[in-house]
Amino acid sequence: MAIISSQQPAHPPNSGQAGDRPAPPPPPKSERGPVISLVRNTPESSDKAVEESLRPQRIRDYIGQKALKEVLDIAIQAAKSRQEPLDHLLLYGPPGLGKTTMALILAQEMGVSCKITTAPALERPRDIAGLLVNLKPGDVLFIDEIHRLPRVTEEILYPAMEDARLDITIGKGQSARTRSLPLQPFTLVGATTRVGALTSPLRDRFGLIQRLRFYEVDELTDIVLRTAQVLNTPVQPDGAAEIARRARGTPRIANRLLKRVRDFVEVKASGSVTEAIAAEALELFNVDPCGLDWTDRRLLTVMIENFSGGPVGLDTMAAATGEDAQTIEEVYEPYLMQIGYLQRTPRGRVVTPAACRHLGYDSQTLQPQDSSNGQLSLME
Ligand SMILES: Nc1ncnc2c1ncn2[C@@H]1O[C@H](COP(=O)(O)OP(=O)(O)OP(=O)(O)O)[C@@H](O)[C@H]1O
Ligand SMILES: [Mg+2]
Repeated sequence: MAIISSQQPAHPPNSGQAGDRPAPPPPPKSERGPVISLVRNTPESSDKAVEESLRPQRIRDYIGQKALKEVLDIAIQAAKSRQEPLDHLLLYGPPGLGKTTMALILAQEMGVSCKITTAPALERPRDIAGLLVNLKPGDVLFIDEIHRLPRVTEEILYPAMEDARLDITIGKGQSARTRSLPLQPFTLVGATTRVGALTSPLRDRFGLIQRLRFYEVDELTDIVLRTAQVLNTPVQPDGAAEIARRARGTPRIANRLLKRVRDFVEVKASGSVTEAIAAEALELFNVDPCGLDWTDRRLLTVMIENFSGGPVGLDTMAAATGEDAQTIEEVYEPYLMQIGYLQRTPRGRVVTPAACRHLGYDSQTLQPQDSSNGQLSLME
């Protein structure tokens, strides 16, 4: 499988999880293209190769997401037996759950190439047209952050998805003419963290629309053990489970926490990663036993202390904490809601009694119970 890749998805700034690196500055406009580089396993790209090697290559190695795998397995087998490309697929769910990984696996399973791009890179009609005309029969075109497609690009995609046809307008004003070019049939895989932001004409053109869910602790434990093997880091099963418990149901965070724990072991301890070592290391990196980081705790604490636990509007929360509203909505809230610490109501966000107890507040009076009990001072 040739992977032509890869503009990193531009996640909202400050996505804040432990160990996040600031996004590199965007390249100058003239250098920006819809597809950035060709990934090959050369020595120069060995770092990238390590990252890539963490991705499972086949559907059977993809841990968890049982329902999704079943649906896709059937779709792959049916498409192969009819010798047709796979139907267009929309994958949605919070960041880091394995959308890009799944797109690459699909191409691998179908025995075709995968071209990876991201919606904001498809600014001009010629960006998407260039990608489409170069697709070989059955190829996978992966568009990340597909909810951010410019309108003109989206309109070019409609006939391309439906009838494998590229409609282009030549000339301007009265002399403008539309010409149609046939395209090779292909599979569009779109990924988004915000399925509600897609226009319905675009959404309706996907034959398969699948949600990725947060992972269970035992699934994440398997992912940590697999990554540890790839990274050649000895980890005990209980150490892997401790990392998994703190990984917010997200493989990318599990892998990132494992790397932090590996650093800790190399510098402060020795031997393999045990439960105690993992816990000690992750406390140091401010990741609590539920996987909440400093920003999660701050969001909840501000709601309890300043707004009597809610309801609070999203924009008010953003203004009160200095976080970006979109980041709160897409990165922090899904997990807080998943573990039952936050609820979205028509009147705003509300902190639950479970969250109050976790942060050391009385769930009735909202008074601090014990100042040493994990509470976050707003003065920090
Ligand atoms: N099911 C899985 N089994 C094993 N590892 C996984 C799985 N899903 C994801 N990963 C690991 O997690 C990392 C993040 O996955 P991926 O890049 O596919 O997420 P994503 O959903 O595309 O995120 P984003 O929305 O930020 O683009 C990958 O490097 C991969 O190693
Ligand atoms: Mg991705």
